[in-house]
Formats: sequence, C-alpha cells, structure tokens
Amino acid sequence: MKNKKVYIRTFGCQMNKRDSEVLSGALKRRGAELVDDWESADVILFNTCAVRKHAEDRVFSILGLIAKKARTRGQDKVFGLLGCMAQEWRDKAFKKAPYLDIVCGPNDLYALIENLDDIIASRKKALFVDSNQRVDEFYSDGAYFSEDKEHAFVIIMEGCNNFCSYCIVPYLRGRERSRPSEDIISEIKLLIDKGISKFTLLGQNVNSYSSDLSFLELLKAVSDIKGVKDLSFVTAHPKDASVELFKIMAERENIKKYLHLPFQSGSNRILKLMNRNYTIEHYKELAMAYREIVRGGYLSTDIIVGFPTETDEDFQATFEVMKEIKFETAYIFKYSPRPFSKASERKDDVPKEVKEMRHKILLDFQKSSAGQ
Ligand code: SAH
Ligand code: SF4
Ligand code: F3S
Repeated sequence: MKNKKVYIRTFGCQMNKRDSEVLSGALKRRGAELVDDWESADVILFNTCAVRKHAEDRVFSILGLIAKKARTRGQDKVFGLLGCMAQEWRDKAFKKAPYLDIVCGPNDLYALIENLDDIIASRKKALFVDSNQRVDEFYSDGAYFSEDKEHAFVIIMEGCNNFCSYCIVPYLRGRERSRPSEDIISEIKLLIDKGISKFTLLGQNVNSYSSDLSFLELLKAVSDIKGVKDLSFVTAHPKDASVELFKIMAERENIKKYLHLPFQSGSNRILKLMNRNYTIEHYKELAMAYREIVRGGYLSTDIIVGFPTETDEDFQATFEVMKEIKFETAYIFKYSPRPFSKASERKDDVPKEVKEMRHKILLDFQKSSAGQ
C-alpha cells in the first residue's frame, strides 16, 4: 500500500464507523495515505449499510456518479463496495455496478487489507464474503486511527441472534460473537495511553454480550479502568435490559446517563409479528424504571411505522407510548421490506402515503416535545 491514496466513505451505524476507522488504521500502518476527496484517490472504498432500501439506492447512485466522472476524465481508480451491502449483493454487485473492483462483506475486511496490494496490481475483480476472517489483529489496528482525539468506539460483540422479522442485519453480520474481555480491556488501555478518555462499547446488541464475563461484569470492569472518564454503550435490546443495568449506570459516575432502547411499536400484535420478544407493558416498565433510577437520564429510541398489517389503532398505540415516555430522541423509520427477512414474505400492505403520514405525525410530535 506504499504511497497509495485511499478515500473511504462510511454509511450506516456506529459499527460501520468503527469498522472504517479500523480499516483506515490498518491501511495506514501498511503505508497508505488516507485522503478526504475522491478525486485525488487511487482507491475509493464505500463502507455501506443495507438496513433500508433508500440508503442502498443512494450508495449505488453516488458511487455510479463518481465512477462515471472518473472514467470521463480518463482516471483509473479502484472501486470497492464494502460492508453490509457487499454481503447482501455478493457477486451480483459486479453486475449491478460493473465499475466495481472489490466487493467485501463486514466480516471479511481483514482479507481485503491483506490482498489489496495484489488487487491494485492485477486489477482482477475480488469478492470477499463469508470467510469470517475478523481476527484480533484487526481490532487492535483501530487504535492507530481515530479522528476523534478524546473518544473511541470499542467493539465488544458482533452479529445478532434476534432475527427481528423486518431486519436484514443477522443475515449480513452473522451470529453473535463476543470478544474476550481481556482483549477489550487491553484495547481500551492502549487507547488511554494515546490520550483517549471517552469510550462507547459497541455491538448490535451490547447487552447480549457473553464471554468470560457477562455484559454487566464487563461494564463494571471497564468503568473501573483508571483513565476511563466517560463510558457509554449502544445498542441495548429491551429483552436484555434490566434494573441491575440501570443501578450500575446510576451508581457509577463515569458511566454516561444515556440509554438507546428501541421499542419499534406500541402494539403488542405488531411487536409479536416483529419477533421482538417483549410486550409494550414490559417496555414501559423498563423505561419507567430507567427514569426512576437513572435520575436526569437521557432516553432515546427507534420506531418503525407502516409494518405490514399496521392499522390506525396499532399506530395510535405507538403514538401513545411516545407521549407517555417522552423520549429525548426518537429515530423514526418507514418500514422497508428487506431481502432474507421474514417480514418481506408478507405483503408490504400499508400504502406509501399512510406510512408517510404516520412518519410525519411522530416526527412533528418529537420535534415539538423535544427540549420541553
Ligand atoms: N441492532 C440495533 C440496530 C438495528 S438497525 C437494534 O436492534 O436496535 C437500526 C434501526 O433501523 C432499527 O432499530 C429499526 O428501527 C430500523 N430498521 C431495521 N430494519 C428496518 C426495515 N426493514 N425498515 C425500516 N426500519 C428498519
Ligand atoms: Fe436487527 Fe433486531 Fe438484531 Fe437489532 S436486534 S440488529 S433490529 S435483528
Ligand atoms: Fe446498516 Fe449494517 Fe449497521 S446494515 S445499520 S451498517 S450493521
């Protein structure tokens, strides 16, 4: 990678953001120069998200435009589609976007790093999916690249076993894998030596973390490390959240009073169809306990409107939960059928206009109530 200029653009969740940092660190260590503009780059890598179709369409359109511009200017660049979309599209991505040289899934980034020199030299199309070569060396490379000099994301677990019926993530990121606590703690210590004091523990479901320690044990162990001034975690799943977690959050000064706890829908019928494994009553109890125990705590959530068969009544139930809990932040999404997911076998029967209207009602409410 000596003297190669690499441009990386990242879409999607914080996991992807961290993956891009780790990738950047590894490439830099191998002599590459990271650049902020695609024009000057030899290699253009898009680390992508597949969670909703809209995000995906945008990636193909931006990448396509760049490839076209580069071609008309006679510039020879290497193009890579990385991350969740790569795992979803696999070799079909080369058909959809013939300018692509590389297609590499999120669990194969290490294979890409090891082979990038050869790919640039040979210009053969390279597909990396399913090898699951995410090795410990990959993570420790992350310590070499973080734009933020105060804060770092630390991946503690990956993958998801929940199979919410609307979600593509388990099919792209694979089954849950937790890193040994020793590795996590030594990565954090390395980052502290570099001057970082704020940390976010990352995983698709952080509170499903399970290795030599449980999630709560890990949280306490990290909070005990000298030099950890601010500690948070995303994303928690309601089925694994508990009063014990909230107590630890309240007791420990260096744990941020911030919880992202998606509820998705206020209707038990829809929650069941979504395979979320909790009732809205249980969710509300948790949210109430959080408010009670973690005084002044920040609570954010995710909501999907327009899931197949969602009636006005179901939607009203969701709206009621928003009014009741008064989230500091709510991310509201319109249901989008995704490949492989169980819900995509159902008819996407809530009309577009209805989805849009429900989306707007919740968005307007959140805007008007936030900060009150
Ligand atoms: N692992 C995290 C985040 C998953 S993706 C979690 O479970 O909380 C982030 C959010 O995108 C989800 O919480 C959900 O609200 C939304 N989402 C996922 N799949 C979707 C789909 N097919 N259509 C619309 N929104 C979706
Ligand atoms: Fe998707 Fe559900 Fe897993 Fe979150 S918990 S990644 S929404 S399947
Ligand atoms: Fe998107 Fe993959 Fe994250 S689909 S939300 S980038 S795990």
